Amino acid sequence: MHHGVLLITGASSGIGAATARAASREGYKLVLAARSKDKLNALAQELGPENVLVCELDVANFEQQQAMVEHALETFGRLDAIFANAGRGGSPAVLVAPTTTHGVR
Ligand SMILES: NC(=O)c1ccc[n+]([C@@H]2O[C@H](COP(=O)([O-])OP(=O)(O)OC[C@H]3O[C@@H](n4cnc5c(N)ncnc54)[C@H](OP(=O)(O)O)[C@@H]3O)[C@@H](O)[C@H]2O)c1
Repeated sequence: MHHGVLLITGASSGIGAATARAASREGYKLVLAARSKDKLNALAQELGPENVLVCELDVANFEQQQAMVEHALETFGRLDAIFANAGRGGSPAVLVAPTTTHGVR
């Protein structure tokens, strides 16, 4: 059982939310950051709000990043790891059949 503090950006969905659930099961305290505060609050309720700090954050905003880290340190007294995951999700690769044979022998 870990007792560390993990900060995850892009925690409101996808890989970030899945990582939050897995880390919570292992005992981590979590700082969950993304723009969608409603989704983060729902995830915090699911995981146990006493071990989760929700931060509304746009990663493009440096002041918001600084405020998030300060808030995390005030709340938990430490930060052990950061998963900088925020970004746009991928879509499945698509195989496209060639429509022409130009240049193919
Ligand atoms: N899924 C794949 O196959 C794949 C492959 C390679 C790399 N990746 C990378 O892995 C990461 C997660 O992918 P995913 O599939 O889990 O995507 P996802 O479900 O679309 O989740 C993206 C997360 O990033 C957050 N986010 C986006 N822009 C943000 C911003 N400006 N500030 C703060 N948070 C932001 C979103 O929350 P809000 O919209 O609430 O802010 C959301 O929580 C991405 O960086 C993606 O590029 C994914």
